[in-house]
Amino acid sequence: MQINSHEKVLIIDFGGQYNQLIARRVREANVYCEVVPYRKASIDMIKSENPVGIIFTGGPKSVYKDDSPSVSPEIFELGIPILGICYGAQLMAYLLGGEVATAPVSEYGKTETEFSAESVIFKNLPEKSITWMSHTDYIKSVPDGFVTTAHTSVCPTAAMENPARKLYAVQFHPEVNHTEYGFQMLRSFLYEVCGCRGDWTMERYAETAIAELREKVGDKRVLLALSGGVDSSVCAALLSKAVGSHLTCIFVDHGFMRKNEGDEVEEAFADWEVNFVRVNAKDRFMAKLNGVSAPEQKRKIIGEEFIRVFEAEAKKIGHVEYLAQGTIYPDVIESGAGDAAVIKSHHNVGGLPDYVDFEEIIEPLRMLFKDEVRALGRTLGLSDKLVNRQPFPGPGLAIRIIGEITDERLTILQDADWVFRDELAKSGVDKDLSQFFAVLTTMRSVGVMGDGRTYDYTLALRAVTTQDFMTADFAKIPYDVLERCSSRIINETNGINRVVYDITTKPPATIEWE
Ligand code: XMP
Repeated sequence: MQINSHEKVLIIDFGGQYNQLIARRVREANVYCEVVPYRKASIDMIKSENPVGIIFTGGPKSVYKDDSPSVSPEIFELGIPILGICYGAQLMAYLLGGEVATAPVSEYGKTETEFSAESVIFKNLPEKSITWMSHTDYIKSVPDGFVTTAHTSVCPTAAMENPARKLYAVQFHPEVNHTEYGFQMLRSFLYEVCGCRGDWTMERYAETAIAELREKVGDKRVLLALSGGVDSSVCAALLSKAVGSHLTCIFVDHGFMRKNEGDEVEEAFADWEVNFVRVNAKDRFMAKLNGVSAPEQKRKIIGEEFIRVFEAEAKKIGHVEYLAQGTIYPDVIESGAGDAAVIKSHHNVGGLPDYVDFEEIIEPLRMLFKDEVRALGRTLGLSDKLVNRQPFPGPGLAIRIIGEITDERLTILQDADWVFRDELAKSGVDKDLSQFFAVLTTMRSVGVMGDGRTYDYTLALRAVTTQDFMTADFAKIPYDVLERCSSRIINETNGINRVVYDITTKPPATIEWE
């Protein structure tokens, strides 16, 4: 996909934890940017990309160690504006002859910082405000030609710059919300220093992407695995606008969707000019999962069965030239990270079938962040309900029933989960939550209803708030709302006599229970 933007910012990644956030903020400022690992950021590569600006990210190392991530100092001679953040600031200082050392006092967290209004980055902002710091090294002395433009009570150089060479650096993290005026500072760098005009919008992206897809696909055919999630739905909408009936969407309904969700997905695409195939494959999936209770085994079986069903349907259609996938930018950035431990083998419905007869994969959302995918969906006319859908795992409710899946358990969970969602929507609490759902623990306990003893399941409710789903807080839902959820779930569903609320953060727990 060509990017219809004349201005590109390169973000050189030194391994810091907030790097994707920097990219998202730059895009929020309507400037297109790409994240490049520092090893790939050669001078030739940078010249060929011809960026209007460069941002150095943070990173976990000390710049003066032999094996620390670095770049060629020639980068400072290219005349391209550069903003160094945290490690990136120290690297700029170090490579240009300043001194970086272990700070007498490390700073972590919200820190009062004083700024010089002389700097174009800080002008029109309060002289004192809060920044987010996270460093043990510091810039002890700035390179020749630089001036210090911010400090804290323990950090003499919280920012420095050499405006003549368009080089800027901040020790704190402007990309993090805790830095009060961080977004304005990034904007100033982009607009005042790099001279950006802000030509990155989803309206323009949609226009170019549609034209390009139309051109590429021509009279050939495209196949898409539609899960009903945001990414595959937006992908379907984009392709539908571009190539209409040349697109076939296969929606494999494995039977583990939330209550009525399969029908909702079908309805959402009823008016679009696409070939929509729904495969009701619940029986196949249930047969394969019979007697299986280990979470990883369930995921594996569902992933594989999904591909088999998809293949069988695709074969009926015959030869197609293109397979479309709703891969998004965070997947692209993260693939290749490599050393992270596998906590759960995430199965995204839409995983690649090996034997389907197609020539090429197209990924029209490959350069977009989730927020941008949502904005694109709105631009294309998808409903808010679909576009704002919370994440839903590929294996669906199968991993929200602890242990073995039976028809009875599935119905109980679908009903209870529906009541939970309905009650959160009615109370308006859902707007503040990142994700919320019910889990059917298969633990039974004794209860009393009317005059009788019950021995039924315990249902767990889970609701979290999170920015990135890597860490999460349990949501502090008001007790009266929880009370209504509990009482309605017990009254309106069969087989549950106890409701508990999960008050664990991630880590140590994960968001899903399996
Ligand atoms: P965990 O449970 O790992 O979940 O804290 C983090 C986020 O990922 C979602 N999730 C999945 N998504 N396939 C998916 O597409 C999966 O197998 C899967 N497992 C978890 C989870 O719902 C949460 O948003």
